[in-house]
Amino acid sequence: MTQIRINKFLSESGITSRRKSEELVLQGRVTVNGKVISDLAFKVDSDKDKVFLDGEKISPKKHLYFLLNKPKGLVTTTNDEKNRKTVVDLIQTKEKIFPVGRLDYDTTGAIILTNDGDFSNLLTHPKHNVPRIYEVKIDRPLLEEDKEKFLHGVFIKGLKGKFKQVIFPLKNNRKYVSVTAVEGRNHFVKNMFGALGYTVLSLNRKSFAGIEADIPIGQYRVLRKEEISGVIENYGQ
Ligand code: URA
Repeated sequence: MTQIRINKFLSESGITSRRKSEELVLQGRVTVNGKVISDLAFKVDSDKDKVFLDGEKISPKKHLYFLLNKPKGLVTTTNDEKNRKTVVDLIQTKEKIFPVGRLDYDTTGAIILTNDGDFSNLLTHPKHNVPRIYEVKIDRPLLEEDKEKFLHGVFIKGLKGKFKQVIFPLKNNRKYVSVTAVEGRNHFVKNMFGALGYTVLSLNRKSFAGIEADIPIGQYRVLRKEEISGVIENYGQ
């Protein structure tokens, strides 16, 4: 008999994170053996209890973790209202997986896909300061003074944003810059450069949480055990 807390059972079923699972319980959407559960301390016997969410049976799944080197021309959602191809379409699995965070349609590089909501939350929550390293091509040479502005912070949509590190020139060319960001606001890198009057011509995420896109564009691999435990050790509380 394996007893696990109701929120852990839900998150291990790939529904959502443990924290959001608690909300589902409190909303009265979860039943165990036909009875609505409202006690967050409730433990499920995963061998025999029948758990339903909104009337649909759920059961814990094995967690899956993939690293994709995203090509251009894909969206990072699970389905797209315009019917464009998504990053999920590239991964061969029958399990329901989703991308961790987002990359723009025209951005290439490292993106993780998983069915583990807690792992995804760990990587995307701003309080964990997870580093994302981008190689950026801009429309004109970067000025030294603008590098300093990026490091001290510039305002995008009224909120200050910073790069943790700015390295340039790359390839002996001041239009090629490597930046490290620790936040994932939408279009963050493009908006940071835009705030100082630069246009981003291409954007490639070299690594996410220290995990490098070390495979050819368009290909994916399974994350190694030590990469998963490294993320949990480095960014878990
Ligand atoms: N910042 C952007 O502007 N776009 C991305 O795809 C990722 C970070």
